[in-house]
Amino acid sequence: MGRLINPRHVLITGASGGIGAALAQAYARDGVLLSLCARNLVNLQQVANACERKGARVNINSIDVTDIDALQSWVLDRDAAEPIDLVIANAGKTLNVGPNGEEESWADTKALLSINVDSALATIIPLIAPMRQRRRGQIALVSSLAAYRGMAITPAYCASKAAVKAYGEALRGLVAAEGVAVSVICPGFVDSDMSREFPGRKPFMINADQAAMIILKGLARNRPRIAFPFPLNLGTWLLAMLPASLADFILQHISYGRSR
Ligand SMILES: NC(=O)c1ccc[n+]([C@@H]2O[C@H](COP(=O)([O-])OP(=O)(O)OC[C@H]3O[C@@H](n4cnc5c(N)ncnc54)[C@H](OP(=O)(O)O)[C@@H]3O)[C@@H](O)[C@H]2O)c1
Repeated sequence: MGRLINPRHVLITGASGGIGAALAQAYARDGVLLSLCARNLVNLQQVANACERKGARVNINSIDVTDIDALQSWVLDRDAAEPIDLVIANAGKTLNVGPNGEEESWADTKALLSINVDSALATIIPLIAPMRQRRRGQIALVSSLAAYRGMAITPAYCASKAAVKAYGEALRGLVAAEGVAVSVICPGFVDSDMSREFPGRKPFMINADQAAMIILKGLARNRPRIAFPFPLNLGTWLLAMLPASLADFILQHISYGRSR
């Protein structure tokens, strides 16, 4: 059922740092073509150099994923160059409430949804039909454990990741019979530029290389949901299972470590 142990062409958005850069290096080997995008071309080139040293062929492109036309024409060009076996919609940003609990502005919320939801779906949607036609391909959407249950410290981010999680779960059922695999990736805290912006404590944080290996193994097994690390996955899953009022009570009594 669309299980790809060794994808030959992997496209990753947001590959200039953090999890995306670590994933690019995890997939880099002889015979693999990597198509990588992000805005920062200098960082992207460094990632490409490291991947080429491992034997991969690498195509990099400086794209702001909120430019949907540029994003989609790049994705389709890359698929035309060599059929994409695995697409990972990884580019994303975060947003938190203010230090004194100030709500997120509409402008910031809109910008976040634009990258985390619109651009993520715009990355993968052009590839669904070609993959279905080929009866081969794998789609991965990077969500978050924050998708399981809304948290007061980061409402818009939780909403964006819940949207991506629901979309990926739905798409998996739609295309499974046609040999296309879909996985939703739900990391907990991973050390990166993004997680450094998070103002609270970061329990069970792992590094980006560790996250990339967990994701690579999960995708090779065509796992529907690749959620980690285990203790935080269990905790957030339980929160979502509890009656909402009990989950509210628990969350209200968790200190995020902010000055408030
Ligand atoms: N780190 C965590 O704890 C954590 C936990 C759960 C989920 N995640 C998710 O994992 C994904 C990767 O996050 P990360 O931790 O690796 O963050 P990161 O280190 O900040 O990397 C984010 C990547 O996205 C790219 N990006 C951001 N905005 C972009 C834009 N407008 N156009 C093109 N590329 C853009 C960045 O590249 P440029 O700046 O060069 O454009 C960078 O390559 C995100 O979807 C995030 O929500 C992270």
